[in-house]
Amino acid sequence: MSTDVEAWKRAAAIAAAEEIEDGMRLGLGTGSTVAHLLPAIAARNLRGLRCVATSVATERQAAELGIAVEPFSALTSLDLAIDGADQIAPDGWIVKGGGGAHTREKIVAAAAERFVVIADASKVVDALVAPVPLELLAYGLPATLAALGADGPTAVRAGAPPSPDGGVIADYAGDVSDPEALAARLSATPGVIDHGLFPPSLTSEVIVAGPDGPVRRALA
Ligand code: A5P
Repeated sequence: MSTDVEAWKRAAAIAAAEEIEDGMRLGLGTGSTVAHLLPAIAARNLRGLRCVATSVATERQAAELGIAVEPFSALTSLDLAIDGADQIAPDGWIVKGGGGAHTREKIVAAAAERFVVIADASKVVDALVAPVPLELLAYGLPATLAALGADGPTAVRAGAPPSPDGGVIADYAGDVSDPEALAARLSATPGVIDHGLFPPSLTSEVIVAGPDGPVRRALA
């Protein structure tokens, strides 16, 4: 039995890579779990993959491994997207964006016929907690932060670079006990480009690996 979190991430990533088939249009997520996915994809020597990446880091690692990535302007939909998570709740709500890439990640997940989340067992929680990552428009930033601060402080993430699309990465630190209501409120706040709450309806399958290996759970 392994207690090595990196080994758990790798096990989840390898299990997800097995779902990829020749010729698929594939969305590649971002983060340390996806960093294990990319070598697993390369090792499969699949033919005719068409990949899009959710971050510069993923694009760079993919290129190093010989996985061709194209801009997400050449494809209107994807067969499969695979990505990591920061928190996975029992009801399937997920928090993403620890790496600030959640806006692109959500666009890619929504464009995919199947969205598969990969994670080590430490990401499974009883209930979601703050923070919820945000990407905000720089224009009017103080007003947007003030609007979001009504039930908890929301702050620009210290040291976080702007997103590749120029957005400001921030974190919402208020009440997260009703993710559906919070997601609706965040989405309705002018200046919020997107937030890191992913509803259960967006995710097809969660693959969580722990000491006993990867376990698959179907969602949407
Ligand atoms: C990137 O912004 C995030 O959504 C990541 O997918 C998430 O934080 C999981 O990252 P790790 O795989 O590094 O835990």
